[in-house]
Amino acid sequence: MNVYDGWRIARMLEHRGLTQTDNVADADIIILNTCAVRAKATDKVFSALGRIRRAKKPNALFGIVGCVAREAGANAFRRIPELNFVLGPQSYHKLPEILDDPDSRLLDINLGGLEKFDSLPQLEKSPRIAYIPIQEGCNHCCTYCIVPYTRGREISRSFESVMHDTIHAAQTGAIEICFLGQNVNGYKHTDENGKLYRLSDLIRETAKIPEIMRIRFTSSYPTEMTDDLISMFATEPKLLPFLNMPIQSGSQNVLSRMNRPYTLELYCDIINKLKQARPDIQISSDFIVGFPGESDSDFDDTMKIAQKIKYINSYSFKYSPRPHTGAALMSDQIPENIKAERLAKLDAYLNEVQREFNISCIDKTLSCLLEGPDKTGKHLIYRTPYMQPCIVEYRENAPELTDIIITDANKACLRGKFKI
Ligand code: 5AD
Ligand code: SF4
Repeated sequence: MNVYDGWRIARMLEHRGLTQTDNVADADIIILNTCAVRAKATDKVFSALGRIRRAKKPNALFGIVGCVAREAGANAFRRIPELNFVLGPQSYHKLPEILDDPDSRLLDINLGGLEKFDSLPQLEKSPRIAYIPIQEGCNHCCTYCIVPYTRGREISRSFESVMHDTIHAAQTGAIEICFLGQNVNGYKHTDENGKLYRLSDLIRETAKIPEIMRIRFTSSYPTEMTDDLISMFATEPKLLPFLNMPIQSGSQNVLSRMNRPYTLELYCDIINKLKQARPDIQISSDFIVGFPGESDSDFDDTMKIAQKIKYINSYSFKYSPRPHTGAALMSDQIPENIKAERLAKLDAYLNEVQREFNISCIDKTLSCLLEGPDKTGKHLIYRTPYMQPCIVEYRENAPELTDIIITDANKACLRGKFKI
């Protein structure tokens, strides 16, 4: 979501005639798009602002957008008085106002709902993979998570406006659609006639668009993986056989303290149903280790669930206490060294499974989507249906979507050759 927001901000400013630069000393405006999910990322923001303040041109505007802006609010101006703007994740469409009035100070951390989506300028050309946000915020209130505070309560865009953006993306170059939301499978929109639309309806409608060849969505909450959505994996071949459905912990006890009220049986049942619908489906997950009160045996349960599901791609984190969250106040916080030990053990296992999965792809033919040339320009990078990067020899006018025979693999990527 953050990558999408950053990309959208860049396009919005290009619309105003600005171009991107990597050099702070050249820039007329410097924007830090920030994440507040873990303390480390947040801490980096203010040290980066201090560096930018010294390196930038005297008249250059600078400020922060995103979740740290929402969290810090007016305090950000107290810490760095020269800041020009502090805009929360639902107000970054207001950024051009600072260009119109550079002497002002722009502060907006409201959770204004859907105004942003209607205010951003329409894109003239879509990238091959079009990210389409369909809902924002989250009602789940996991006890470790700051997102319900920074991005607010869950809110879904209308079916009509999502489809409008999707069709526009298809007409301007998109081949793959990725629906985005903190709780994407919780998408629900009721139109004026009382008709309820869910994510499965968006997928079904999008699959009818001839230009769109691949569809995916991220990130999913386990208990919102309803049967209508699961059945899409059986009926819509354009839906990629790859799903991010974070479990966070394999311990029933920790899950309940995280306020993630699903049982491991239910989680595994959902995966079984998904496999019945689409036998080649693979799952990815997020994990948190060292949540308050996590015992050695709780952590072993996390290792066990990882061994059972064999996630092909995962993100694992040490628990980081966050403001506005219940878990930060729990008394049984885990020491950093134990968190680090558990993370290293889990990561080593997850990496090994990922490597094994990648190696299992050797000799298979996978339909892959072109991403672009690598840094050397000698190769092209494609994305498999499981979003693994696949490197092939450079070819002029290479096809955008094509069959690739996988010839080699390691943990990070695949190598392959064009089938034709
Ligand atoms: N500490 C560590 N990881 C966190 N996440 C969310 N909040 C925290 C936290 N306080 C992780 C979860 C989530 C991912 C986006 O970030 O695993 O799925
Ligand atoms: Fe945060 Fe995801 Fe839990 Fe929502 S479901 S509170 S975004 S971790």
